[in-house]
Amino acid sequence: MWIFGRKGPSGFSACSTAEEVTQGIDGTGRTAIVTGSSSGIGVETARVLALRGVHVVMAVRNMDAGKNVKESIIKEIPTAKIEVMELDLSSMASVRKFAKEYNSSGLPLNLLINNAGVMATPFMLSQDNIELQFATNHLGHFLLTNLLLETMKNTVRESKIEGRIVNLSSEGHRFAYREGIRFDKINDESGYKSIFAYGQSKLSNILHANELARSLKEEGVNITCQFTSSRSNCYQSSASPQLYQWELQQHAMWHCIHKYRG
Ligand SMILES: NC(=O)c1ccc[n+]([C@@H]2O[C@H](COP(=O)([O-])OP(=O)(O)OC[C@H]3O[C@@H](n4cnc5c(N)ncnc54)[C@H](OP(=O)(O)O)[C@@H]3O)[C@@H](O)[C@H]2O)c1
Repeated sequence: MWIFGRKGPSGFSACSTAEEVTQGIDGTGRTAIVTGSSSGIGVETARVLALRGVHVVMAVRNMDAGKNVKESIIKEIPTAKIEVMELDLSSMASVRKFAKEYNSSGLPLNLLINNAGVMATPFMLSQDNIELQFATNHLGHFLLTNLLLETMKNTVRESKIEGRIVNLSSEGHRFAYREGIRFDKINDESGYKSIFAYGQSKLSNILHANELARSLKEEGVNITCQFTSSRSNCYQSSASPQLYQWELQQHAMWHCIHKYRG
């Protein structure tokens, strides 16, 4: 649609692909974690970072799917430095295990892309008994970021290269509950609305990014923290721009149809 093709001051638009916006950038020597890179936008993010020479760690809950993606990236980019590690963001124990392994691996960390997400699921509780969308989309990433922050700060100090944390939010953040985040009713099944709960988790991604950016600036740490919320999230694929938007929304639609059919 024309509106997504309108270019901003950067010269790029929401229709620009990841390959286009990273053209000419050499990411050699940098290391990135991309959560949820077993499908959708995460795959394209991992692929293009690898294409630009970044060492990519795919943090995924489905190891088989992750390994298949890794193989397909290596097939296309034989020089890619890429590996797969297990991470289930809906489980705090899994997040802690991942962070412990990563922090003791000796790998630096320049970029953390908090991409994984679930959308509009029926009411469910995580392994820690927290509403699933809030647990996965926000709390898991919040804990992960906190646990990896020291490693990131060390990398920035040693490399003197700015670090970056990106939270993938959504325009859906506008459709949170009327009160915004229902801190005292996170697990209230009776008032649960799957789309509002998604919006609530995506609003949390934004508030998390803003507060972290503020506190890192105050601390004088050279790490920028930002969120993405526009449709540019879904238009990153060079190969198939519409595909990634479709997969997440298909999942949401499936649940809505089943819910309203009763
Ligand atoms: N596509 C859109 O229209 C759109 C628009 C705005 C914002 N976004 C945001 O963009 C991000 C990526 O969306 P997408 O369209 O690429 O979705 P997707 O194709 O459904 O991919 C989501 C990824 O998150 C992973 N994931 C889900 N639950 C997880 C968990 N508990 N632990 C670890 N990984 C988990 C999935 O793993 P499995 O493969 O194991 O399921 C999958 O790899 C999301 O944060 C979404 O909110 C998307």
